[in-house]
Amino acid sequence: MSAFQRFTPLISALPSTVPFVGPEAIERNRGLKVKARIGANESGFGPAPSVLQAIRDNAGEVWCYADPENFQLKQALARHLGVAAANIAVGEGIDDLLGLIVRMVIEPGMPVVTSLGGYPTFNFHVTGFGGRLVTVPYVDDREDLDGLLDAVRRENAPIVYFANPDNPMGSWWDADSIVSFARALPETTLLILDEAYSETAPEGSVPEIDALIDCPNVIRTRTFSKAYGLAGARIGYTISTPETAIYFDKIRNHFGMPRLSVIAALAALEDQAYLGQTIAAIKTSRDRIAAIAETNGLKPLASATNFVTIDCGRDGAYAKSVVDGLMEHGVFIRMPGVAPLNRCVRISAGVPAAMDLLEASLPDVLKAL
Ligand SMILES: Cc1ncc(COP(=O)(O)O)c(C=O)c1O
Repeated sequence: MSAFQRFTPLISALPSTVPFVGPEAIERNRGLKVKARIGANESGFGPAPSVLQAIRDNAGEVWCYADPENFQLKQALARHLGVAAANIAVGEGIDDLLGLIVRMVIEPGMPVVTSLGGYPTFNFHVTGFGGRLVTVPYVDDREDLDGLLDAVRRENAPIVYFANPDNPMGSWWDADSIVSFARALPETTLLILDEAYSETAPEGSVPEIDALIDCPNVIRTRTFSKAYGLAGARIGYTISTPETAIYFDKIRNHFGMPRLSVIAALAALEDQAYLGQTIAAIKTSRDRIAAIAETNGLKPLASATNFVTIDCGRDGAYAKSVVDGLMEHGVFIRMPGVAPLNRCVRISAGVPAAMDLLEASLPDVLKAL
């Protein structure tokens, strides 16, 4: 190494990588064409026609920045959720907000508790700020609330991250268990409760907003990327106490929210009828994915999300050949990265044409293995 070290030791030591390989990269690198994009838990059902109309109607305003205070969107979210605008912070997707939260709390070397094989972008941020990941294995393909609590206490951890419903397994806990978990945490531990999939979760699995709104050590994260069909618009938000919410203003990118994304989010909130239709379409698609898996001798896991995780019954190498084999047919899916979860593949709900291609391709892929 040269005597002059331009980059910090922390950044220099990080691998230069992205936690996810995108379908675009797969197309470039393997010379394949994605025909069914059902791997990134986007919503192939897309946003509401009313949202697309609002984007078109306002496209000419794209030369303007958005309101750096996100006033209107915070007001609309507050009305939608029944909280005060002061309880909300807005950011460029949950992924952005997770990075901000970690930056607010973590100094190099501090322990951060999460599940082994849980959402990798969170880990990416922890590592990026020098945190030390403490991981707790899943139990029965579900995040282990007792194990997470034990790890928090043992490590005196300033953050615990927990997704309900969960990615990559699609599993979930009931609301009461989550509230008890949150209330059992030491006040020095911040719970990041990632609710990216709250819209598709079964009744009784997402705590009421009131149940945690007064907890100074809880931040709930939500997104327009999943059921609202706006992943490419990058709109996420947090729900917390006002005292916690103001911390985002200290470090967020104040002009980060794209103006058309804010317009899209406002229109999406107005069109709850379309959201209802999408949720129904996701359920239908989940059932179809499960049926396709079973027909092919694989085991679909119950899902509260917009994807179905399928146990392929063997090891990670076998599941990876299923992922790679489907891609040869133009079907883009993903799989969990860590054993024992990596015996599974993960398939996002999608439009009937995508399901048709999956149904037609999977038997060939399995036969060839
Ligand atoms: C658990 C979880 N959190 C967050 C995200 C990303 O959300 P956003 O698009 O708002 O950054 C995802 C997307 O797959 C997810 O599965």
